Amino acid sequence: MQDGASLSNEEIRDLVRPDHVHRRAYVDPAIFDLELERIFGRLWIYVAHESQLKKPGDFVRTSLAGNEVLITRDEAGQIRALYNRCPHRGARICMVDHGSSRLFSCPYHAWVFRPDGSLATVPHRKSYPANFDLDDPQNHMQPAGQVATYRGFVFANLAENPPPLAEHLGPMTEVIDNLVDRAPDGEVDLAEAGFILEYRGNWKLHMENAADIFHPSFVHNSSVSPARKAPPKASIIDQDQTREMMLANGFGIKEWEGIQLTGFAGGHSSMKSFYNSGVLVHEDADPVAVRYKAALDERLGPERAAAVLAMRGFNNIVYPNLILNAQYQQMRVVIPLAVDRTLVHIRCFRLKGAPEEIFHRAVRFLTTLGSPASMIFSDDVEMLERCQQGLVSRAGPWIDFSRGLDSDLRDDRGQVSGAASEMPMRVQFKAWVERMTAEAA
Ligand code: FES
Ligand SMILES: [Fe+2]
Repeated sequence: MQDGASLSNEEIRDLVRPDHVHRRAYVDPAIFDLELERIFGRLWIYVAHESQLKKPGDFVRTSLAGNEVLITRDEAGQIRALYNRCPHRGARICMVDHGSSRLFSCPYHAWVFRPDGSLATVPHRKSYPANFDLDDPQNHMQPAGQVATYRGFVFANLAENPPPLAEHLGPMTEVIDNLVDRAPDGEVDLAEAGFILEYRGNWKLHMENAADIFHPSFVHNSSVSPARKAPPKASIIDQDQTREMMLANGFGIKEWEGIQLTGFAGGHSSMKSFYNSGVLVHEDADPVAVRYKAALDERLGPERAAAVLAMRGFNNIVYPNLILNAQYQQMRVVIPLAVDRTLVHIRCFRLKGAPEEIFHRAVRFLTTLGSPASMIFSDDVEMLERCQQGLVSRAGPWIDFSRGLDSDLRDDRGQVSGAASEMPMRVQFKAWVERMTAEAA
């Protein structure tokens, strides 16, 4: 990774105007390297969910600021982030995405590590020098920064002195609270399976798309039109959820006006739901919803349960790279691989204590919206890649995100706008400039 010294803070500030951003932010590898260092290397980054780390030895392999890391639960029950690199000669140690192992053995010369990163054994110990010390931290898997959790969500931070996690999350803690509070048993489990998709475009394009309410009726029209023609037909599996989702993507001005976007300091944003009908909001006549509400009432009391279910939000953006949808128990994690290559992990949660059908619906939501064969996300990916292809051309330095600029309002929580506004992108780029020009803590 470059150290970014080729770009002064002044040059970085010059890339972002109130209503425009320079194309270089999406195509310049030096800027990408600086993003890994100053955004992904200094902010709290989601790395795992505690339901994947239930017992000592459980682990998840993921990426943190361009580094491959293992998130483990050690023998003492502590969650650790470790670089997935052998301190001996540098080999990657673990090659599976998740699992459970009390020991991690390097495939090259068989140094063996515990889940806390310490070195347990080396083969042929006597051939190492007399002063070779198994307990020397230099011979251990190196810690990848600090780890903190918020209601089961595990974040890691490579900065020396990061602020508390809850401070970084700010108002987005409400979204995590709402997701967990929807579980009658008070806990959620990350579904073991999900999708990992790669697109040939910059990571920011996806974060912008997820907060862009203006595009669905254009981009997703190919599935809206057939859905309008298809007669309603509730299936046992999804109660016609797929058709409803496609119809909702074709909303008009009236529905747009009912959606509010709120942008927060730090680049976060939230979006009121635009799926407001039928099985997607678990109407009272739906027997599954009735059973689910009864289970939630029992734990929270009817008043509190009603308040939890009333908090409808679609894509909530936790800057820089986490997208949470509590209402439908969905999550996306956007992992930058290169300036023009991005990985998206798409997963859903099981609300513990809820009827099994609620989980089936979350899975159906996931597959309709986010699978490689999805008639929705595949449209989005086409747009993200077309943007990347267009942005490499030197047609002109600036791209526009001015829509809604004149009508944005402020309330005591943040920036408020209508659904047609590009305010969330402006909020993201404000945070981007702040992080990219900030001194290390
Ligand atoms: S590189 Fe891991 S044991 Fe040699
Ligand atoms: Fe979309």
